[in-house]
Amino acid sequence: MKGIILAGGSGTRLYPLTAATSKQLLPVYDKPLVYYPLSVLMLADIREVLIISTPASVPVMRELLGDGAHLGLDISYAVQTEPRGIADAFLLGADHIGGGDSALILGDNIFHGTGFPGLLRDSRKNLDGCTLFGYPVSDPQRYGIGELDARGELVSIEEKPARPRSDNAITGLYFYDSDVVEIARGLRPSARGELEITDVNRAYLAAGRARLVRLGRGFTWLDAGTHQSLLEAGQYVQVLENRQGVRVACLEEIALRMGFITADECYALGERMANSQYGQYVMAVARSAA
Ligand code: DAU
Repeated sequence: MKGIILAGGSGTRLYPLTAATSKQLLPVYDKPLVYYPLSVLMLADIREVLIISTPASVPVMRELLGDGAHLGLDISYAVQTEPRGIADAFLLGADHIGGGDSALILGDNIFHGTGFPGLLRDSRKNLDGCTLFGYPVSDPQRYGIGELDARGELVSIEEKPARPRSDNAITGLYFYDSDVVEIARGLRPSARGELEITDVNRAYLAAGRARLVRLGRGFTWLDAGTHQSLLEAGQYVQVLENRQGVRVACLEEIALRMGFITADECYALGERMANSQYGQYVMAVARSAA
């Protein structure tokens, strides 16, 4: 399974923060926002990742993450010149996907919860068509919404409905089989001129090949699209990390635990940042695994 992080967009809701930089490079407490979605793909055991971003941001993303080899990954980059919609990721990413399964994650989505790696593994194994991840929210008008019947089967999907049929938001993590590229190629732009991910999901639903995995109450899903939600995400990570003494979305630690790099390699990565607490944490994690 190949991974795609969609990290473009104009970020206008975060102006002036994003006037000269990309939203996905902004800090969420101790690390750039894009670390969080990348950590999710890594936990799903996905090592080949395409990062799609704006012409101005791709060089900076590349400076941040390089070709990913230091993390045992293979990271490539593609430019999206205009925000043509989330499903545009499959047109830009067709070669990268190469006719297999893919996972798309939005660059501003943060997931955290116990048992997440197992849930991701199971979802990969059981993929038949498309798998969406649902999360209960108090403001369903702001999201894609999935309605389930009494047996837990997905029966409808709507984008930002004025009258939501459920509070089940469809999060920005999507698993698809190889049909997704053809489905995206067949889409027409919506009224707002975008290739909508909800239309892709509806095509799978119409074919009876869409399921929704519910992320329960013990789970946290945040998007960092506004000043308030960006700050709240940072505060969430700060409280958790300081209370527990472990780090959320520490890429070096995940690479080590997933077996992508050795303890020595992990230690060397930490050493390069030895002046920061983050670097010291990476060194400590490597030391205890050696
Ligand atoms: O966060 C989950 C929600 O994401 C889903 O519930 C919705 O169904 C889905 O449409 C999407 O809604 P948003 O209103 O958050 O979509 P937005 O247009 O803000 O795009 C989400 C991210 O993707 C944003 O960080 C920018 C990036 N993006 C978006 C578009 C349209 C791109 O990189 N390129 C694009 O062309």
